[in-house]
Amino acid sequence: MKRKFSTINLLTELEKPENQSFLSEFSEKIYPKNSLVCSPGHETDRVFIVRQGRLRIYLAVEDKDFSLAILEPGDIYVTHTRAHVVTLDQAILLEMETGRLHAHMATQPALSRTIISVLGELLGQSFSIIDSLVFKDIRQRLTDFFLYEGQHNGTVTDGGILFSLDLTTTQLAAIVGASRQTVSTIISNMLKEGVLQKSNRTSYCIPHVDLLRNYPQGIPEK
Ligand code: HEM
Repeated sequence: MKRKFSTINLLTELEKPENQSFLSEFSEKIYPKNSLVCSPGHETDRVFIVRQGRLRIYLAVEDKDFSLAILEPGDIYVTHTRAHVVTLDQAILLEMETGRLHAHMATQPALSRTIISVLGELLGQSFSIIDSLVFKDIRQRLTDFFLYEGQHNGTVTDGGILFSLDLTTTQLAAIVGASRQTVSTIISNMLKEGVLQKSNRTSYCIPHVDLLRNYPQGIPEK
């Protein structure tokens, strides 16, 4: 979810009498639901403010697509990125050539605040995509390995399944086919999130098998 840096909405700001001449520089355009507003390599460089409706920003690679953000009224975006932008509802956009908007950045602080908020959401979502592309397979392999060890060499107790594993992180990394650093990052996240416990170098506990089994799908956002 976007973290608004200010409760001042860009649209409210633009409606103020002192901003009427700035507002008049935008042209208003209506897009029907599900229309593609722009895609990579878009010929003209326009910036737009969402007056009405919601739009999805996404990256498309071969047959996959990755959502980066949902724009809502008062948000701002541009056509010069590698992302596609599609309307989720009928949308009304206030559009201006990007170079022209640049000249107003210094005198319209609400612009920068809104841009930072949208870019923050893009960045946060990009981190999640990197995490799932880079770590998910390894998370799955590590989870399968711990589940196997627990079920075949563990002891069921009131606190969960206890098992012993006399392996260094380097040996564990070799088993799951990943780097030592990656394995160590994933294990410390597992410990932090409580799907795995460790009482000393070789003693592990799986408190809830289902929690560990579901771990590779990621912890849902709160
Ligand atoms: C104020 C006017 C703006 C100017 C002058 C400007 C300029 C630029 C330039 C020169 C680039 C590099 C393009 C390239 O690598 O070919 C860029 C990239 C980018 N801009 Fe802007 N920008 C502006 C506004 C915005 C706004 C409002 C947003 C979104 C809220 C935005 C989001 C981005 C993103 C995400 C990229 C990375 C593009 C990619 O690599 O796919 N920009 N911008």
